[in-house]
Amino acid sequence: MTRKSVVLTGITTTGTPHLGNYVGAIRPAIQASKDHNVQPFYFLADYHALIKCQDPERVGESTLQIAATWLALGLDTGNAVFYRQSDVPEITELAWLLNCVTAKGLMNRAHAYKAAVQANLESGEADPDKGVTMGLYNYPILMAADILLFNADRVPVGKDQIQHIEMARDIAARFNHLYGEHFVLPEAQVSEETSVLTGLDGRKMSKSYGNVIPLFAPEKQLRKLIMKIKTNSQLPGEPKDAESCTLFSIYRAFATREETAATRKLYEEGIGWGDMKSRLFEYLNDHLTAARERYEALIQSPEKIEGELREGAAKARDYSRPFIRTLRESVGIRSLGGT
Ligand code: TRP
Repeated sequence: MTRKSVVLTGITTTGTPHLGNYVGAIRPAIQASKDHNVQPFYFLADYHALIKCQDPERVGESTLQIAATWLALGLDTGNAVFYRQSDVPEITELAWLLNCVTAKGLMNRAHAYKAAVQANLESGEADPDKGVTMGLYNYPILMAADILLFNADRVPVGKDQIQHIEMARDIAARFNHLYGEHFVLPEAQVSEETSVLTGLDGRKMSKSYGNVIPLFAPEKQLRKLIMKIKTNSQLPGEPKDAESCTLFSIYRAFATREETAATRKLYEEGIGWGDMKSRLFEYLNDHLTAARERYEALIQSPEKIEGELREGAAKARDYSRPFIRTLRESVGIRSLGGT
């Protein structure tokens, strides 16, 4: 039997999932988890979280929320291996092996590091590396270890992560050249769907803009947030442009083609903003209520989530344990004899 193609992606545990995360990353990943022709690996990148966030409560809470979200939305854990990065110690072990074959110059070119240096220079700071931890600097190497340990063929990521996948390929090729063909060279899979959700203020929905709608906001809060979405000053009865409207962009991300067409027509006919906001709220609420209830129930039973994650880690380690043994051997870390 030929090996199933491996799809792998990580979610950094620093935030609460919002509608933009759902549409852009979570929904397609959950859909893909049901495809038994591929082998998905999805993990909570909690070691990556420490690079961005030194608030232990936040990291812990985010891990719980993200895991509950994916399970509530019907992730197929019979097919997808769903685990916490920190439960698979072979990842950090591999990260060290990779550190030792990665050129420092390659890391100097990482966008995230360069952006931090640039910000220091622009603020007139004397030390260009001020505030840069080794975690931030080495970030792409830990990410390469995540990917290479499971010989992922495809890595679904946002555009901002493409460079990291290219670095993982470079690092894999270097290791293969030195120690033998151990690693598959991964490919980034960037979603064709460019429909990025806009947030409350009309900019891209993103935690860094503080304009997000949490995916499982309680009903009251969901209504309140939708009522706060910025619209223009057109009056009811005036024909409106659907394409540039945040309300429409969110509606469309959930609705069927027919529903979208019907709503576009309402815009042409001049639907009032208050009316459209109520419709959007009702629509989203109908779509999210069942999953929200499952989410709330999971949050109340964290031991269930813990059980799922441990099971996932055990499956992941069925791959990673023997593989790290081979890799250690290949670099010369070997038993000297006896047992
Ligand atoms: N760096 C990714 C992000 O911020 C998260 C991540 C960590 C990841 N390890 C990964 C994604 C491995 C894909 C594969 O989005």
